Amino acid sequence: MEDKNSFLTLFLAPVAEYLADDSVSEILINGPSQVYIERGGKLVDVPAKFVSEPALKAAAANIAKSVGRMLDDMHPRLDARLPDGSRVHAVIPPLSRVGTVVSIRKFKKDTLTIDKMQSYGSLDDGMRKLIRALVLLHKNVIVSGATSSGKTSVLNALSSFIPEGERVLVIEDATELQLQQRHIVPFETRKADKNGQGEVTIRDLIHSALRLRPDRIVIGEIRGGEALDLLQALNTGHAGSMSTIHANSPIDCLRRIETCALLSGIDIPLSALRSQVASAIDAVVHTARLSDGSRKVVSVAEVLPLEAGEYRVRELRRWKTESIAPDGAVSGRFEQVEVPSFAEQARIAGVEL
Ligand SMILES: Nc1ncnc2c1ncn2[C@@H]1O[C@H](COP(=O)(O)OP(=O)(O)OP(=O)(O)O)[C@@H](O)[C@H]1O
Ligand SMILES: [Mg+2]
Repeated sequence: MEDKNSFLTLFLAPVAEYLADDSVSEILINGPSQVYIERGGKLVDVPAKFVSEPALKAAAANIAKSVGRMLDDMHPRLDARLPDGSRVHAVIPPLSRVGTVVSIRKFKKDTLTIDKMQSYGSLDDGMRKLIRALVLLHKNVIVSGATSSGKTSVLNALSSFIPEGERVLVIEDATELQLQQRHIVPFETRKADKNGQGEVTIRDLIHSALRLRPDRIVIGEIRGGEALDLLQALNTGHAGSMSTIHANSPIDCLRRIETCALLSGIDIPLSALRSQVASAIDAVVHTARLSDGSRKVVSVAEVLPLEAGEYRVRELRRWKTESIAPDGAVSGRFEQVEVPSFAEQARIAGVEL
């Protein structure tokens, strides 16, 4: 059987051993003579080197070509998904100052299930029940966190609690989520071709999704103006929808949604926009990568109504770091902060908290 990734191994021979190694999650090439890999949540410097900058640049251009794209002076940045699901981003000089820069996020073959996350200590039983209740009670949830903190993995875990029998429309820039239910309808955006034609954005796909009778909408990541379309969809039904966003805290998550919605270019008064955010989003699940490389759900917070025009959240459960050893190892515990406002609703629905 032909290995879907054989061409990648061919072009990137100097890092072939890391491509083949399932314990390596990312490969970061910073010019021809510096390579880092991520293994077990830690970045390590490895001795791999490319023969020369032209050889590395040619390799990156070949990867682009193999997926029907270009990487040259007119198109100096490449954002691509490979046939095996890996994600590649490349930037060539003079934009990158150290030579061609390539990052490869390898596709995880085995999904990170919520059971596995729990066994790694990424969340405890209380957190798991809370998250499950959010999904079963059709709350609109945003997973927030820094880059590579585990947002997409947590969204995938959240989606595993969606009951069979609901129609779920999934919209992503590049397919990463792996929903297991039967009635899943997945969509993927399309980049413009080399003539700048044919682009289909998340916003376009949200508009289609709304006409396709979704029970829930799952959006891989919010990065721009689609935030407004999502807010409008949530405020007109489709409870139980979910997405992720890059943010530093649950409050920051709401601010980021607001900022993204403003990028839509649609004129809407700030006060109206804020009340849309506060009413559309019910809860924020915040993730973090701790100093020892471990990833955790560090906070689950419910969104309260605006007060004097400002966002407010109520933290329900959180991770509390108690000590950090000299080698960076973190110890602590999960703790309950407040009783959810939906505790009674959960009791009536027979959902355990
Ligand atoms: N709880 C976890 N325990 C161990 N590894 C994890 C955990 N969550 C995520 N990972 C790993 O961390 C990497 C990043 O995870 P993920 O893609 O979910 O993060 P992200 O925040 O969505 O990243 P991005 O900012 O690029 O969208 C992946 O290799 C994933 O397998
Ligand atoms: Mg992600």
